[in-house]
Amino acid sequence: MIVPIYSKRYLAKTISEVQASIYARKTVKIRGWVAKKRTLKGKIFLLIRDSTGVIQRVIASADKSWSEATSITTESSCMIQGKIVRDRRALGGYELQISTLEIIGLAETWPIARDTSPDFLRGIRHLSLRREREQAIMKIRSGVIGGFHEYFRSRGYFEHQSPCFTPTPGESGAETFELKYFGKKVYLTQTWQLYAEMMIPVLENIYTVAPTFRADKSMTSRHLTEFWMAEVETAWQEFPELLETMEGVVRFICKKVAREYRAELTLLGKDWKYFATLPKFQRITYREAIVELRKSGFNTKFGDDLGIKEEKFLVNKRKIPIFITHYPTKLKAFYMKRDPDDPEQVLAADLMIPGIGELIGSSERSLDFKDVKKRLKLSKEDPKKYEFYFDLSRYGKVPHSGFGLGIERLVMWLTGADSVKDCIAFPRTPTRINP
Ligand code: 4AD
Ligand code: MG
Repeated sequence: MIVPIYSKRYLAKTISEVQASIYARKTVKIRGWVAKKRTLKGKIFLLIRDSTGVIQRVIASADKSWSEATSITTESSCMIQGKIVRDRRALGGYELQISTLEIIGLAETWPIARDTSPDFLRGIRHLSLRREREQAIMKIRSGVIGGFHEYFRSRGYFEHQSPCFTPTPGESGAETFELKYFGKKVYLTQTWQLYAEMMIPVLENIYTVAPTFRADKSMTSRHLTEFWMAEVETAWQEFPELLETMEGVVRFICKKVAREYRAELTLLGKDWKYFATLPKFQRITYREAIVELRKSGFNTKFGDDLGIKEEKFLVNKRKIPIFITHYPTKLKAFYMKRDPDDPEQVLAADLMIPGIGELIGSSERSLDFKDVKKRLKLSKEDPKKYEFYFDLSRYGKVPHSGFGLGIERLVMWLTGADSVKDCIAFPRTPTRINP
């Protein structure tokens, strides 16, 4: 038997527990916040929420808790003891007949009343996060990150952490945050990958979910300056298997969210069935993408990078995720393996998702450090700073591959949010560092 350590706590139930029929006609205690208060025909209607749900209570002037009910305000915290009764008209199907209402923290006048423009809400993000939609998105975000851990841990992967201060940019020199580090110049990490590759001979199969920094000035709905990237590196894994791994984890997360966050998806107006039953992801090569784009009136030529417009066009018309593979070598990072059948292209794939475009960047890794050096120079990087990285091919190299997935972009797709800014609690962009 579980012995309650603290009897008050033992009595307390979450709102979702209370709404499970086992508590009908029982007296319980709930703790939460006043989501809405309305006075109508001499009665006070309180909508109480916690992190699990909402429950309604109607208080009449003859009730014992009338005086507390009159003074309580929106977003005040409170503790309520009462009897659970079935009421089909109430939200959630149950009502709480209050015997006591205790105000814990009386809230000042709640600032979110009429002005709900996205900019106003982002300016008071620390408060607007309490709204139903924002709460649902934050729950789904937690589910996405949890799903990533679950998928790789259950397949024997180890979690590895790379440093956040790095002596080299790692991905692209143009988008680094430089900072002073005891008289030296260092960068904030743009990717976990290079250090993760050093762990291949140590742990073989590794992953992380970690903050990533890019001094990207583009003010699009899919860019943040600080975002969370889920990255994976797998020893002995070649390109075809890499595609399977990426599809596997994205499909797993979509199914998990469809199953465990059905109520949140419904609240956000999303169809959980779509995510539960995604068909096999399509695959097209970069060359095929160019032909398709040109047929549809785009001006894109072989060798051009695909922008947001091109990516969205290719994926939106299919309505399911697609891989674009075999990009030109000169478009992609120095560490990607050249295709042995055509060294002008690399064994790389980006996964596109509807409405957003790129979700994942990936490749098999090059084991030819002389070529890597050459390509670093081409991208105006100093190969001397990468000596540690070349040691991987000097001492017992093995084929390996990996990928990075933008957590906020996946959350944006699942929730239908307008921007990645709504998919992280406190977004950081070139113009927003507060709150
Ligand atoms: O394609 P990227 O740049 O890949 C890498 O950094 C690799 N080193 C990862 C790896 O192979 N281990 O970034 C990976 C993903 C992108 O596909 C995108 O979803 C996300 O990270 N991303 C951003 N998300 C939000 N804001 C930004 N500024 C982002 N930049 C990239
Ligand atoms: Mg990329």
